[in-house]
Amino acid sequence: MSETTTIERAEAPESLGDSGWALSRVKDPYEKSIAIIGAGASGICLAKYLLEVGLEVTVFEIGTKIGGMWVYENDSGRSSAYKTLHINTAKNLTNYSDFKFKDTVQRFPSHWDMHGYLDAYAEHFGVKGRIRFRSEVTSVKPSFAPGREEPRWEIETVDGRNWVFDTVCVATGHLTKPLHVPEFQNGFKGEYMHSHYYRTPEAFKGKRICVVGVGNSAVDIASDMCVITERCVMVARSGVMIAPKLIFGFPVTDISMRLYKLWIPDRLRRKIIAFMVRLVHGDMEDYGFKPLTRRAHPTTSATIMQDVAYNRVIVKQGIEKIDGKTIHFVDGSSEEFDVLMACTGYLIDLPFLSPDLVPIVDNNVELYKRIVPVDWPGLFLIGMIMSTTALNWNYEEQSRWIREFILGNAVLPTRDEMLRDIEEKKAFIKKYYKESPRHHIEEEHMYYFMELHKSLRQGRWRRFRQRVRDWFGGGSGGPGSRRPADAHVGAE
Ligand SMILES: Cc1cc2nc3c(=O)[nH]c(=O)nc-3n(C[C@H](O)[C@H](O)[C@H](O)COP(=O)(O)OP(=O)(O)OC[C@H]3O[C@@H](n4cnc5c(N)ncnc54)[C@H](O)[C@@H]3O)c2cc1C
Ligand SMILES: NC(=O)c1ccc[n+]([C@@H]2O[C@H](COP(=O)([O-])OP(=O)(O)OC[C@H]3O[C@@H](n4cnc5c(N)ncnc54)[C@H](OP(=O)(O)O)[C@@H]3O)[C@@H](O)[C@H]2O)c1
Repeated sequence: MSETTTIERAEAPESLGDSGWALSRVKDPYEKSIAIIGAGASGICLAKYLLEVGLEVTVFEIGTKIGGMWVYENDSGRSSAYKTLHINTAKNLTNYSDFKFKDTVQRFPSHWDMHGYLDAYAEHFGVKGRIRFRSEVTSVKPSFAPGREEPRWEIETVDGRNWVFDTVCVATGHLTKPLHVPEFQNGFKGEYMHSHYYRTPEAFKGKRICVVGVGNSAVDIASDMCVITERCVMVARSGVMIAPKLIFGFPVTDISMRLYKLWIPDRLRRKIIAFMVRLVHGDMEDYGFKPLTRRAHPTTSATIMQDVAYNRVIVKQGIEKIDGKTIHFVDGSSEEFDVLMACTGYLIDLPFLSPDLVPIVDNNVELYKRIVPVDWPGLFLIGMIMSTTALNWNYEEQSRWIREFILGNAVLPTRDEMLRDIEEKKAFIKKYYKESPRHHIEEEHMYYFMELHKSLRQGRWRRFRQRVRDWFGGGSGGPGSRRPADAHVGAE
């Protein structure tokens, strides 16, 4: 890492080669400077994996705490955690593979448990000392021509300082910027709040609340508030299958993970899970929900079905229109409300990166394997994913993958291959999931991990072929063999 005072913005590159070469062949990986932006669960995990092989890492963090989303009232101002939040993946699934929760921690850790755990993880693996707190990154810009020059990234922090890195890894999370629906935010004339800002229910005592959404925020917050509100209506416009937290006394995630075996067909696994949920909760329609007809991000709750059964929460299947404080529902009924609580999800937001580098449309972020912007070597994104399992597990898989490319042990495919892969993912989501911004980065973890492993094998094979060509063909390259920085290298 070097610190500079004046930095000129590089011109946009006109020639794009195989970004893999620039990552792996020019500079000795152990001489590379690597920036990680964000000290949440994904950033500290990646830092740990890079540090343990001796790479040089600097982590930038807005706030003064480790753990991002899981730090209640984080002074970064970015956490969406509310006071009663517990993680919905059981602790044995949520922990990183080489660092367990303490035995005293409950089965579904609270945000306090998660914060303590992530802080201890960072301490244990020596990540803490690499973090620059109170260091918001305000801009990340390339100052090289991809495919023709070595990656060189310029970072600016909020204090006006400039830095240069060979590699930048973005780990800033994607559940901070509220997805506001203008019709709700501007059209409703009572109090409007997005779930990102919700912390405790006291302020809503005795009020008439309309909670919009049927994701995990909506069911948690409706359950949290409904015992002290005058009325609590939940608007579930899409079909849903709400899973309990425990089945036969076991965490539902422990049971469902056992069903992720290659020899269990996908349809059968879904049927078994649906059957188990039905054993506990019965038919969703009996509670007023629409049945699930397409795949959706899993919703789980230990309490919401009882709250609906007790009429503490009333389910409506959609909003027809809003007139002042009166909300008209699709079933023809209408009611006046004091508060509209929009649990409508989040928008991926990378304000420090130009959309030319990483375009984002409706939460569609174009990344090879959900990690690599195809045209920009030396830039990785970690954690831009929603998954069927605990996200920490995904971060470990992504971290190992990223590490191999940084180390130069693997080489990325050609730009066309990466773009094809991205299009295939989009087509998969379109085919199976309900169209909604919440599903554009959804992954079935078992298949995603297999994909990562396969692409790593292929990347290593490409690297091997490169080495053979270099040995026998006399080509320059290989870590440490300084190839001219302006040499043009075509696709692999
Ligand atoms: C309410 C809620 C409940 C959830 N429950 C679960 C669950 O049960 N199971 C599960 O697996 N996942 C859950 N998640 C997903 C959760 O987001 C992930 O588990 C994980 O915490 C995300 O980690 P992250 O590091 O990618 O992002 P974050 O935790 O958001 O951390 C990002 C970090 O980057 C920092 N940062 C951001 N921008 C900058 C910048 N410009 N410069 C410097 N630093 C920056 C932030 O301050 C923050 O510390 C939940 C999310 C929410 C919102
Ligand atoms: N306890 C926990 O572990 C916990 C708690 C909270 C959140 N989380 C996690 O945090 C992430 C975000 O969850 P989230 O619940 O905040 O968001 P989400 O999963 O994106 O859900 C958003 C909900 O709002 C609905 N919605 C969006 N726009 C709407 C509109 N115009 N009209 C009506 N409904 C609309 C969506 O319906 P459609 O599907 O029809 O678009 C969906 O039901 C998820 O990964 C979730 O698992 C976890």
